Amino acid sequence: MLEGIASCTSGWQGTHGEQKMDKLIIEGGRSLHGTVRISGAKNAALPLIAATLLAPGRHRLGNVPDLRDTRTFLRLMENLGVRHERQGDVLHIDSTDLRNTEAPYDLVKTMRASVLVLGPLLARMGRAKVSLPGGCAIGARPINFHITGLERLGVTCRLEHGYVDAEIDGRMRGCTIYFDIPTVTGTENLLMAAVMAEGTTVLKNAAREPEIANLIDMLTGMGARIEGRNTDRLTIHGVDRLEAADCDIIPDRIEAGTYLIAIAATGGEGTVTHCNPAHLPSLLEKLRASGLIVEEGESSISVRWPKDNGHALKSVDIKTMPFPGYPTDLQAQFMALMTLSSDVCVITETIFENRFMHVAELQRLGADIRIDGHSCVVNGRGMSGLSGAQVMATDLRASSSLVIAGLAASGRTEISRIYHLERGYENLVDKLTALGARVWKDRE
Ligand code: EPU
Repeated sequence: MLEGIASCTSGWQGTHGEQKMDKLIIEGGRSLHGTVRISGAKNAALPLIAATLLAPGRHRLGNVPDLRDTRTFLRLMENLGVRHERQGDVLHIDSTDLRNTEAPYDLVKTMRASVLVLGPLLARMGRAKVSLPGGCAIGARPINFHITGLERLGVTCRLEHGYVDAEIDGRMRGCTIYFDIPTVTGTENLLMAAVMAEGTTVLKNAAREPEIANLIDMLTGMGARIEGRNTDRLTIHGVDRLEAADCDIIPDRIEAGTYLIAIAATGGEGTVTHCNPAHLPSLLEKLRASGLIVEEGESSISVRWPKDNGHALKSVDIKTMPFPGYPTDLQAQFMALMTLSSDVCVITETIFENRFMHVAELQRLGADIRIDGHSCVVNGRGMSGLSGAQVMATDLRASSSLVIAGLAASGRTEISRIYHLERGYENLVDKLTALGARVWKDRE
């Protein structure tokens, strides 16, 4: 039987306050070796869970990661009247009895992706009231493209008391929407809004991240008609109704990239499995350019050092871009790797205006990094250039760069506020331990 949140919180006890007390301790300087299985992608799971709002019935999602963010999203869904049940990595969701159309501030403020309920609620219920997410540690992150796109589809949006209150009389009407900047959740929200619109909608300059193709597969399985998968021009022919679907979440490319970088940074050798190498084209090229040997299997990627090169890592510049460019969600981790290189490189962030929060923390571990506007100049100090220290996690990906640096550093590193890591990395401690790391959680 489907139940409320109690059914999906196995292993999760206590309040956010308690979680914030946890810190991660790493005894660094040990190289990582072995194999690590990659979980389902957080950033695909959230929109696919939101898509279940579009049609009544019992949906089945496979390969769903059990993360703080997926649990928060399910709390939000439950608040809307959705029931769900987790069996291993399979999530059954029944959205037949939707009774509420409001996403309150308390839930949205802890997870910006809550805004993903806007499009599907409007498509199914004709109404949605969602708290504006506000800024976060990495930037202002407005949702203006979501809102103007919905208005083009005929929705009336009022911004009042910190909420976007949106409604439409009847069905949305297909139109052409051009995004000034490719936006991932904006593209997802408008896809979910347009699938049941009257007529055809065209999304131009749409984002092309693999998570969007995953959502298109889910929507197509529900009966939607969408052309242009994996391109920046999506054509959606509206249908009258959708039905419940069965879809698997794609592997988490950011988790896979994080482990590959961690293995490289510790001078190790290892393989990430259950992943899709085609989802990480730019990272794999950058790892090769820095002197590592990277081999791609059908659903695995291996990384190792060439024999007898003395672990001399070449410095490589990166610039974050929308997919298939270098992902912003792997910028901080690559910077940690580059602090161990033998020369100077420039890392440029073009997606978010404040995504260098990890720099000051990496400096506490001995890294030589200078921020210059939207770029960082990283002066590599060699593979033994970092030493353990106490640092603070500031956001999800910044935290994983501190884990990588801590694993590579000599001595002990203590990372506080690791609830950030728990938002996006499933079983991090167990996975690192299996690779030979000495790492554990403790109370602050
Ligand atoms: N933007 C606007 N207006 C909008 C929407 C976006 O100006 O209405 C700007 C943003 O401020 C940013 C750029 O457009 O400068 C791209 O942002 P995007 O909308 O693509 O980001 P997002 O959809 O909010 C998703 C991921 C992020 C990831 C980014 C970029 C999810 C749930 N989140 O965010 O993931 O960094 O795309 O790839 O899919 C993470 O997992 O740690 C994370 C932050």
